[in-house]
Amino acid sequence: MYETPAGPAAELPPGVVHGAGRFAVGNDDGERFALTRRCRHLFADLAAGTIDDGCLTCPWHGSQYDIATGKMVRGPGGAFGAIPGLAQSVKAVANVVPLGRGVVVERDGELFVHRAE
Ligand code: FES
Repeated sequence: MYETPAGPAAELPPGVVHGAGRFAVGNDDGERFALTRRCRHLFADLAAGTIDDGCLTCPWHGSQYDIATGKMVRGPGGAFGAIPGLAQSVKAVANVVPLGRGVVVERDGELFVHRAE
């Protein structure tokens, strides 16, 4: 099985997100997760995002993705949020193909991401 190295487990405490290959890998209150790292809006790197209430938040315009499903639960905000209907449209399109998910495993203190089936 192909796996992506994701660094030492000690470097992923709760609240932290970092990049590992094509994944943003994070720790949501002790629950590790991996989602593909390109935002469905304008492709910002979600590995630079933040974890908020079970969601991964895009660093550029604040779109939020459910950590458990990879679905966008809030569309882009800021100037984009002021355009009527845009956030809802982006969200609808993004959820046709949610972010990919991975399974984070720990082995000898190191983390790896396996593709979710
Ligand atoms: S690039 Fe992510 S919300 Fe705009």
